[in-house]
This record gives sequence, structure tokens and C-alpha cells, in this order.
Amino acid sequence: MQIKQAEFIKSSASYRDCPDPVFPEYAFIGRSNVGKSSLINMLAGNRKLAKTSSTPGKTQLINHFLINGSWYLTDLPGFGFARVPVHIKKKWEKMIRDYLEQRENLICTFLLIDIRHEPLNNDMLFLNWLGTKQLPFHIVFTKADKLGKNKLQSNLAAYEKKFSAQWEPLPPYLVSSSEKKTGREEILALIDGWNRETTTPEP
Ligand code: GTP
Ligand code: MG
Repeated sequence: MQIKQAEFIKSSASYRDCPDPVFPEYAFIGRSNVGKSSLINMLAGNRKLAKTSSTPGKTQLINHFLINGSWYLTDLPGFGFARVPVHIKKKWEKMIRDYLEQRENLICTFLLIDIRHEPLNNDMLFLNWLGTKQLPFHIVFTKADKLGKNKLQSNLAAYEKKFSAQWEPLPPYLVSSSEKKTGREEILALIDGWNRETTTPEP
């Protein structure tokens, strides 16, 4: 799929303020600094579309980007950001969970996990929450460029082991690097397929 147009639509503090749910939508979720905003920019082919930062906690609202005038990419704040007060952390988490549960045009959520780290408790908790709520998701391991081939394979094996203890079948996943554009075609092909399924053919 070619990305011909990518435009910022709005930032919202609640799912209630989000744009009308008239297009298929795909959200990006994961811990602060995992690379959500960078991945959106990589997919859109525009490094300046979503704001990124090396300091965790950059994205603080629900941000909608309209792609090719016909579907949304949604950038969300990170969860588990340690350096903000607890009441703000709780507020963000509620905003994210409400959005994921209430957004009626949300087709799939990409749950991003930094492949450099061991399976972390808050990633696993979030994954299980998505499962409990029966919300469709796809795991994206990020920052693959930061690891050598062997380390990448052994970390993936550790995740598979962890997942297989809790999930049957294993949740679907892919590997990405926003630096190297790894995973771009795979993610866009998934979205293209889902868009085709959700768009009613013309009579
Ligand atoms: P919050 O908005 O704070 O929740 O973070 P985020 O998940 O949106 O992360 P963001 O895209 O802002 O990226 C965080 C940092 O990681 C930035 O310094 C990025 O340049 C870097 N980064 C993101 N993706 C990659 C990647 O694939 N490879 C490398 N090497 N760095 C990356
Ligand atoms: Mg961000």
C-alpha cells in the first residue's frame, strides 16, 4: 500500500472528543519511549508527523492522523511512565483504557514492546488485559536495529516462551525498526487487508 497523504487531525483528552468514528482506525500502545510515535512516522513516511522524544512521556493525549483520506492511525500516551505523579499516571491509563474499550471504529491495536528488554510485568499485564477484554491486537517488537541477529533471536525466543505459558495460540507478532524501516511493508499490508474487510463494496 502506498501512503499518499498523512495529516494530523486533532489531539483529544478523552475518547468522547475523538473525531467522528467514520473510518477504520489503528492504535499504537505500549510503554513510554517504546517508539510508538516514531513507528507512526515511519509508516506515514513523515518524520515530523507525530512528535517524538528521547525523554519518556512525550505523547500525552490521543492523537489522530488521517491517512490517504480514508483511515486513522492513533498515537497514544505510554503506560508505565515512572517520572510523573501517580494521579497523572492513573489519569493517562484510564484515558487509554476507556479509548480502547469505547472506540467503536478501532479495528486493531498494535501493542509495542522494546525487543531489547526481557518480558516486563506491565507489558504482560496489558497484554492480558487486551485478551480479557477481547480487543484485537498485534504485537510489534520495536528497535530491532539496536540488537545483533543472535541477540534478537534469543530475545524473541524468550518472549515466545513467556507467551506460550499463558496464551494458546500465541499472539501474532512482528519485528520492526523505525530507523531501518523494518516491518513497514508487513504492517501496511495488515492494515490494507483489514481496510478491505471493513469497507463495504460499492453496489
Ligand atoms: P512516549 O510518547 O513518551 O510514550 O514515547 P513513544 O513510545 O512515542 O516513543 P518515541 O517514538 O518518541 O521514541 C522514543 C525514543 O526512541 C526516541 O529517541 C526515538 O528516536 C527512539 N526510537 C524509536 N524507535 C526507534 C527504532 O526503531 N530504533 C532506534 N534506534 N531508536 C528508536
Ligand atoms: Mg509518543
